[in-house]
Amino acid sequence: MTVYAVVNTKGGVGKTTIAVHLATMLARAGQALLIDGDPQGSAASWAAWRRDGEFSPSPTTTVLLGKAVFNEGKALSQGFDNVVVDAGGRDNGGLRSALLLAQRAVIPVGASNLDAAAMTDLLTVVELAKDYNPDLDVRVLLNRVDPRTKDTAEMLEWLAEQNLAVMDARVCERVAFRRAIGEGATVQEINKKDQAAVSEIEALFKEITQ
Ligand SMILES: Nc1ncnc2c1ncn2[C@@H]1O[C@H](COP(=O)(O)OP(=O)(O)OP(=O)(O)O)[C@@H](O)[C@H]1O
Ligand SMILES: [Mg+2]
Repeated sequence: MTVYAVVNTKGGVGKTTIAVHLATMLARAGQALLIDGDPQGSAASWAAWRRDGEFSPSPTTTVLLGKAVFNEGKALSQGFDNVVVDAGGRDNGGLRSALLLAQRAVIPVGASNLDAAAMTDLLTVVELAKDYNPDLDVRVLLNRVDPRTKDTAEMLEWLAEQNLAVMDARVCERVAFRRAIGEGATVQEINKKDQAAVSEIEALFKEITQ
């Protein structure tokens, strides 16, 4: 059983988008649990829309906050092949708990100076988590990439200076991601499929699960 935590203290970077896609792709391979660790409950809302939309398969979704992400999460995860935690930035205890529970952490980031500046707190939490969870595999995912700008190259340079592992897979800013979430779906499942979005998310899945 592998636990994936999708984390960032910054909002709007794509934690929920990435978490629900990962969880759904894992649900195709076995029993998958999606833990919504954000008090705002966005992943849980997606799951509710998904039930209305009759998409399948679905990850089993539950909301856990603060230390319960670790305590309850550990017990609950026993019956599953894979677990994904959407660790909301609003819940600091939840973020720390997710990093204790997980074997792999994905940090979605945008490619701007603001995104870099906002990562300082997160990096402190990640370092601390590694003291208690030394095998934690932490990787940064560039999300909402705009290929027309130089921002990505600058962000990559900055991430290299921080000694952070960056995933080869990248996800661009694409309307399909927004549409999919609003329908309780994934980019693979919506009508008028955006093949570029599908390829990006599948490359991410392959890289993070191997
Ligand atoms: N690759 C993408 N392309 C286009 N839109 C995206 C992409 N990733 C995320 N978004 C959009 O950006 C917004 C924020 O994404 P999301 O809710 O996944 O981020 P989050 O980190 O979970 O935010 P929060 O901190 O509010 O929980 C949403 O409207 C989502 O649809
Ligand atoms: Mg979210």
